[in-house]
Amino acid sequence: MCELYSKETTMALRGKYIGPSCTVFFPEDPVKIVRAERQYMFDERGQRYLDCINNVAHVGHCHPEVVEAARRQMELLNTNSRFLHDNIVAYAQRLAATLPPQLCICYFTNSGSEANDLALRLARGFRGRQDVITLEHAYHGHLSSLIEISPYKFQKGKDDHKEFVHVAPAPDTYRGKYREDHADPAGAYADQVKEIIEDAHHRGRKIAAFIAESMQSCGGQVLPPAGYFQRVAELVRGAGGVFIVDEVQVGFGRTGKRFWSFQTHGEDFVPDIVTMGKPMGNGHPLACVVTTKEIADAFHASGMQYFNTFGGNPVSCAAGLAVLDVMEKEDLRGNAARVGAYLTELLNEQKVKHALIGDIRGVGLFIGIDLVKDRGRRTPATAEAQHVIYKMKEKRVLLSADGPHRNVLKIKPPMCFTAEDAEFLVEQLDGVLTVLEESIGTQTEPAISGNTAHGTKMPEEARRELPGGAPNSTEIASRRRNGACRETHSPAGKRLRT
Ligand SMILES: Cc1ncc(COP(=O)(O)O)c(C=O)c1O
Repeated sequence: MCELYSKETTMALRGKYIGPSCTVFFPEDPVKIVRAERQYMFDERGQRYLDCINNVAHVGHCHPEVVEAARRQMELLNTNSRFLHDNIVAYAQRLAATLPPQLCICYFTNSGSEANDLALRLARGFRGRQDVITLEHAYHGHLSSLIEISPYKFQKGKDDHKEFVHVAPAPDTYRGKYREDHADPAGAYADQVKEIIEDAHHRGRKIAAFIAESMQSCGGQVLPPAGYFQRVAELVRGAGGVFIVDEVQVGFGRTGKRFWSFQTHGEDFVPDIVTMGKPMGNGHPLACVVTTKEIADAFHASGMQYFNTFGGNPVSCAAGLAVLDVMEKEDLRGNAARVGAYLTELLNEQKVKHALIGDIRGVGLFIGIDLVKDRGRRTPATAEAQHVIYKMKEKRVLLSADGPHRNVLKIKPPMCFTAEDAEFLVEQLDGVLTVLEESIGTQTEPAISGNTAHGTKMPEEARRELPGGAPNSTEIASRRRNGACRETHSPAGKRLRT
């Protein structure tokens, strides 16, 4: 039995007992999901949805190996990490092996927010400083300490902007101050950080940390220009601070080739602290902060113990170990690179067709579709994006719209997403955009075909890994005619198309 109550009763009980600020997806017409497997979710009527939202069910919803690993450990023992246990050390060792050698000390937590809060404590404790530089539109978690450094939240709410928080412009080359036509956007955006540091110093303030997602997610799927992180790291370290990367959304191979998104910025960029969460336990609450020995030793020298009841418990670590095993066994990073590149290619073809699509950007299975009212001005198509996600839901595709203008369709599905899923998603989106453009009378202007200057270089690189290369538009059309994109687009027993 999957349901306790009818959908109406669930909604009524939610309205009565759950805090009104805990909003649901599609508030105008919420979906009730009762079960899920792989990249599909099923509602109370048994209708199947293609899940393009869940980067938590990383290796696929309810993956049997993860479920079995957690169940086995749950039967045997679950307790806090003050007892010696093999799972926590085995997991820490596996995690450290994915990172540059200096990032080798782990602290386990239960959520991305706890991980970022601890990262701030580590950074502030390191040299006894307080100030944090964060990026415009960033979101780093729901704890008080993180709302303070999350303009995504504090700029919308009534929370004050704290004097120890400095907001740097998002290094967005599509919508930001310095765009793809700028000779050196990385340098220009880094110069803004330099000004912030200088201004803070003038006021007698000291920088503890710069924090950024390796690729901004809630901020609208923004890929910082090449070289930006290197330059900022130099400035921040020069000012005595540390560089924290938040990989809560974008870590664990989502971008394909590399295990960590920060690695897509180049071998010469290594942060001082990395935080991670969402995908780690495939739905089991498991998160972590990894840092250097020097920073960890400074934290220890303060004399305060760090104890987190559930952080790194044997069951969570068993789930985490199983996730790593599945990623390797099913080559999910390879899949993210191949399917992500193919999907980006298909979406770029849609860009040629639909004037509402202003930009397609992303790497691997982390892709954004920036909807615009007009391409020249790049005016965000906010209402249109909301319309699109509701219409896509009717077509059984779950998408969200985010970014400061809520006009960027976010694609971050489970990593077992297939090429057939990509085709199905694009076919439905094509239909929805066609009807919408007809109804609002949008003129489809000629668009530049293929990858744009922003962010699609890496997918192009990954695209070449597709067996036989990504199909061209004629091949796709022919596949559709051959019924390859039918509604039941992926046989139940087939996990991957590699
Ligand atoms: C980039 C980023 N960091 C941190 C968090 C906080 O993670 P959690 O919700 O697990 O506390 C989130 C959550 O959405 C996030 O997107």
